[in-house]
Amino acid sequence: MEIRKASAADAEAVLECCRQVGGETDYLTYGAEGLPVTVETERAFLERMARERGQLFLVAVEGGEVIGTASLSSGSRPRLAHRGEIGIAVRKAAWGRGIGSALLAEVIRFAGEEAGLRILSLEVRSDNARAIALYRKFGFEKTGIFRGFLRVGGQEYDFDLMQREL
Ligand SMILES: CC(C)(COP(=O)(O)OP(=O)(O)OC[C@H]1O[C@@H](n2cnc3c(N)ncnc32)[C@H](O)[C@@H]1OP(=O)(O)O)[C@@H](O)C(=O)NCCC(=O)NCCS
Repeated sequence: MEIRKASAADAEAVLECCRQVGGETDYLTYGAEGLPVTVETERAFLERMARERGQLFLVAVEGGEVIGTASLSSGSRPRLAHRGEIGIAVRKAAWGRGIGSALLAEVIRFAGEEAGLRILSLEVRSDNARAIALYRKFGFEKTGIFRGFLRVGGQEYDFDLMQREL
């Protein structure tokens, strides 16, 4: 298993990974349909993420397949440029092998050492115990709650807002 920065060439595999993880859990903002973007749009997105200073898109690759992703997006407006938002998703078959931890460790290192950010934040479904344990392990604290953040099949779910200072 290798963790590396994504390039435009990973676009199809990244979208496939999103469809897979989206279909395996109801914790994400999309389901088995994946992200509503074309491969072309995803290519352009990954190119921009690789180029811009405050952005990072990582892939965990095994046997030629993308089995996990992590992203860091920071604000382009000067007043928001000190903070970054994180997203992580790992294929269910690979859970519990330390891949989420390895992705998050690299995002945090990059955010501090390369992007010079001061605050990291994320939103996580309040009953997503595995993800919350992962974030707490890396020093994130719950700072708020968004009631009814996500609606899946008529059921609404609360999300925790978590933050960590760098
Ligand atoms: C959350 C997620 C990224 C974790 O990935 P992972 O590769 O399984 O993570 P790791 O193997 O590094 O485990 C991370 C931590 O999860 C916790 N954990 C592991 N198994 C657990 C379990 N059964 N119950 C609760 N917590 C558990 C542990 O704290 C573990 O750290 P430790 O092994 O050092 O104790 C992954 O489960 C996932 O992608 N889930 C679906 C999408 C998602 O929820 N993304 C987060 C959206 S905010």
